[in-house]
Amino acid sequence: MIRAAGPADAAAVAALEWRVRSTRMPVESLAAAVVDPERLVVVATSGEELVGWAKTHYWDWSDGPAGAGHYLGGVTVDTPWRRRGVAAALTEARMEWIGERADAAWYVVNGRNLASVALHRAWGFEEVARASRFHTVEFTGGVGILFRAALPRRTRS
Ligand SMILES: CC(C)(COP(=O)(O)OP(=O)(O)OC[C@H]1O[C@@H](n2cnc3c(N)ncnc32)[C@H](O)[C@@H]1OP(=O)(O)O)[C@@H](O)C(=O)NCCC(=O)NCCS
Repeated sequence: MIRAAGPADAAAVAALEWRVRSTRMPVESLAAAVVDPERLVVVATSGEELVGWAKTHYWDWSDGPAGAGHYLGGVTVDTPWRRRGVAAALTEARMEWIGERADAAWYVVNGRNLASVALHRAWGFEEVARASRFHTVEFTGGVGILFRAALPRRTRS
């Protein structure tokens, strides 16, 4: 099941991120992201278990070719749950949400992350630029790729 995250999910998200990616995410910053109206944090669950999560990020300024706007801000799926469409469902939910607010979605990735590049292809992301840094995201040990996808016109809030 895919649903918007609530503050109560923050601890489980932090635990998943640590277990799967060895990344420390402060529970407080996750809890703040969950209630930030300019962001969407979504979780994938199976029963009580959190099996994946993803977020968006909003930049209100542009950094060279990296425009102001809504960015897909990372997606993680627990290892046993991979290749079952969980990341695709988390991405579809975020693209829907961004599509209600903007005419484009942005995304940056380390060019070495072929799984992520392949995952996002389905939404028509097109490469805009390559650099070692976009906004505050720095890419070490590989080049960063900036992607943009145009979104269909619809009623927007
Ligand atoms: C990348 C990641 C999120 C994919 O999650 P997932 O739930 O397994 O992805 P899905 O099952 O939704 O895959 C959808 C499509 O993405 C592509 N894809 C996903 N994993 C892939 C892999 N390891 N290699 C190549 N393509 C891959 C495929 O096109 C796939 O479709 P298919 O299974 O029909 O071939 C997951 O491997 C992960 O959490 N990796 C670690 C964190 C990370 O790198 N996140 C992305 C950058 S922020």
